Amino acid sequence: MKSILSSLWSSIGRKYLMAASGWLLGFFLIFHLVGNSFLFGGRRAFNTYADRLHSLGILIPVLEAGLLVLFVTHIVVAVVLFFENRSARPARYAASRPVKIENWASRSMPYTGLAIFIFLLVHLANFKFGVQPATETGMVRRILSQPGYAVFYLAGFAGLTLHISHGFWSMFQSLGLSHPKYDTLIRTGAVLVSVVMGTVFSLIPILFMVKTGFPG
Ligand code: HEM
Repeated sequence: MKSILSSLWSSIGRKYLMAASGWLLGFFLIFHLVGNSFLFGGRRAFNTYADRLHSLGILIPVLEAGLLVLFVTHIVVAVVLFFENRSARPARYAASRPVKIENWASRSMPYTGLAIFIFLLVHLANFKFGVQPATETGMVRRILSQPGYAVFYLAGFAGLTLHISHGFWSMFQSLGLSHPKYDTLIRTGAVLVSVVMGTVFSLIPILFMVKTGFPG
């Protein structure tokens, strides 16, 4: 047990932990996006989806506990790697500067990650621990029809788009699923997937702002 834990916490183990938790959080995000997209189908479609989800009974707390473990793992390892990289940087550069592809999406990972964390705290306070109206659409409407929250959510989705656009590419690297030949393809695919996801998420508060009576 001790040796499993110490290999998980080795420098390569932490990279795997980061990538694996990232992949699983990505699957949650896709599932959540598909679920939220029922709002585009109208009030009945979304409430039926939410009722089906809630009827999963005991599975729900189990899945929620798993999700919490994933978020905590991803955040704790990210914070440790951030401080390790910072303290290692001067020494490493003094010897030989590593060849590393960096761009503003990669450099902003800790900050977009922090923005998502703040977004999540507000989001959970809104939807998970807030006042629960009779229907799920009632709850979403109560929050997203307030311009302040709508703008806050849009800013959160912008941070999320930037974060996953680099995160998706980085997960391929960490798991050794990359090849210089396919790098442009993976990068373009990652940007495309994240922009589509960010756009669909953003359409929800936008429609609440501009379309009276949404979700119909
Ligand atoms: C407009 C976009 C979004 C809407 C309308 C929305 C809606 C909701 C709703 C209604 C719930 C409560 C589910 C329930 O217990 O009945 C929820 C939970 C949650 N949302 Fe979102 N969400 C959005 C975006 C996001 C994003 C971008 C993330 C992640 C970065 C996220 C992460 C979560 C998490 C972690 C939970 C708690 C899951 C659970 O324990 O049940 N959501 N969301």
